[in-house]
Amino acid sequence: MRVLLTGGAGYIGSHTATELLNAGHDVTVVDNLANGSRVAVRRAGRLANGVVAFHEDDLLDTRGIERTFEAGPFDAVVHFAGLKAVGESVAEPLRYYRINLTSTMNLVETMLAQGVRHLVFSSSATVYGDPERVPIDETCAVHDASNPYGRTKLFLERILEDVVRAHPDMNVARLRYFNPAGAHPSGDIGEDPSGIPNNLLPYVTQVAVGRREILTVNGDDYPTPDGTCIRDYLHVTDLARGHVAALEKLATHPGLVTYNLGTGRGQSVYEVIRAYERATGVEIPFRVGPRRAGDIPTSYTDPSLAEAELGWRAEKTIEDICRYAHEWQTRNPTGYPED
Ligand code: UFG
Repeated sequence: MRVLLTGGAGYIGSHTATELLNAGHDVTVVDNLANGSRVAVRRAGRLANGVVAFHEDDLLDTRGIERTFEAGPFDAVVHFAGLKAVGESVAEPLRYYRINLTSTMNLVETMLAQGVRHLVFSSSATVYGDPERVPIDETCAVHDASNPYGRTKLFLERILEDVVRAHPDMNVARLRYFNPAGAHPSGDIGEDPSGIPNNLLPYVTQVAVGRREILTVNGDDYPTPDGTCIRDYLHVTDLARGHVAALEKLATHPGLVTYNLGTGRGQSVYEVIRAYERATGVEIPFRVGPRRAGDIPTSYTDPSLAEAELGWRAEKTIEDICRYAHEWQTRNPTGYPED
């Protein structure tokens, strides 16, 4: 298939570009480079002995989208582009709603006009809010999120439902990611957050290479076995393969489908720290701080639907995640170079 990746210069997008090429697809990336890198796109192509076409453009600009589609034709779109920092979304809700909602609506309108009928959408386990049960399966209720970022995912899921209802020939896969982490085993592409990392693994890797002094554990008085929050950490290359599987599914089974992508195993913050130390031999200094607003104690998926219907399962362990994240951070201590 000829696939357009929006936000393909970012963390999950660049890994997905490599896996799509590996699976024999053609890949074009459109990205405004607000939180992505041209170097990532080039390296993503090289890792698959291929080339990823790149367009710098913004999905908020309808003319920009049209220009991008002129580089087609495309058979499918994988839509990663959007803002994703929870704390920032609380401080700047209007910016999050404007960018995440408008850019997706612009994109889907252009797809409809151009006859591109397959869309894979990056959703998030955040749509389950404080889940009614764990493991979380796709029949669990979705809840209003505790922050504007999470709400944009929920609203977009609903908008896409309505689009499929109005345009039954439109095929949409909504992929609800658990906690993407790690880096490509080559150490050439990985997560390159700007500023202070919000998420656990990038913070740990920056402590490991001496870029930050000490990790703060956000609370150890949760109702979990060791008191720290439990999450389902999913290797980014496994997640990328999930997108390939979802695209291939849409081509044969049209309609609206929704899958949780995770490993089915939960790790506490303390377990992640220990896994990192085991995998790399580097000690991670930490102190215990207060709880972080909005954190839920436990979240992990029941991955059986994706396994049954997509033939997909996560293969990498938490140690693999830590080892590859460390390899990436060691080889690229300050992230991607300027292009
Ligand atoms: N944590 C720390 N110290 C840190 C960073 C994180 O203790 O420096 C803790 C958090 O408090 C949490 C756990 O590590 O208990 C995991 O935190 P992350 O930020 O890595 O992951 P979250 O589960 O909070 O966030 C992820 C995605 C978000 C998404 C959210 C809900 O990164 O985009 O899941 O689905 F909104």
